Amino acid sequence: MTAALTICRDEEGVAAHVAALIEARLTQDPRLILGLATGRTPRPVYRHLAEAWRAGRIRFRDAVSFNIDEYAGLAASDPASFHAYMEEALFAHVDLPAGSRHIPDGAAPDLAAEAERYERAITAAGGIGLQLLGLGVNGHIGFNEPGSPHDSRTRLVRLATSTRQANARDFPPGHDVPTHALTMGIATLLGAREIVLAVAGAHKAQALKAALEGPVTEGVPASALQGHERLHVVCDEAAARLLS
Ligand code: GLP
Repeated sequence: MTAALTICRDEEGVAAHVAALIEARLTQDPRLILGLATGRTPRPVYRHLAEAWRAGRIRFRDAVSFNIDEYAGLAASDPASFHAYMEEALFAHVDLPAGSRHIPDGAAPDLAAEAERYERAITAAGGIGLQLLGLGVNGHIGFNEPGSPHDSRTRLVRLATSTRQANARDFPPGHDVPTHALTMGIATLLGAREIVLAVAGAHKAQALKAALEGPVTEGVPASALQGHERLHVVCDEAAARLLS
């Protein structure tokens, strides 16, 4: 494995480091094709990127984005959707054109067809240049749960119970967490020319150790990243505590 590992003091340090890396790549290539993630960890990264945009250091008008995943059954207008998350966390604050932002449509009538369309759109755009990734407590990347084939492409998946429990905090009381999602596959993610895996918190330590130091296995989706040529792992001290 040729991963570069950066251990930052805390979550804020992780966000600043990851944002600086994205800023550098976007400066080198304003037409960068970004793979974007949701969840808690990327939020402060997007805050930094919005600040960099306000300060005039970066522009998104020639860039393109593809989000990793979306819940099945949630329309873009649903406040719990990843569409809504991205709008609030990043898109409303920068000049990335609406036509250049891509997120799977969780409300599409035919989700299998939507998954195929999404995979083709990524290929047609020339593939992901820089992919931002988070890590699930169970080792998932995107919504590729344990057992996901490493050659998987964008598809409809069933969410693990632990994932639905972990993400219940993003849903208002009385709003069930969806049982399924559309996600880029592991092979889709590995197709990115460069990957940044951002991990923060002691609750991720076990998953991070298994991802980086364990065997490459379908039981730990993130272990597939060990085969990637240009992987940056940026984590905080709490998440790194089990690494040898
Ligand atoms: C979510 C997302 C993943 C994300 C992960 C960790 O379910 N689908 O893409 O990386 O879980 O999220 P967090 O950063 O909130 O711990």
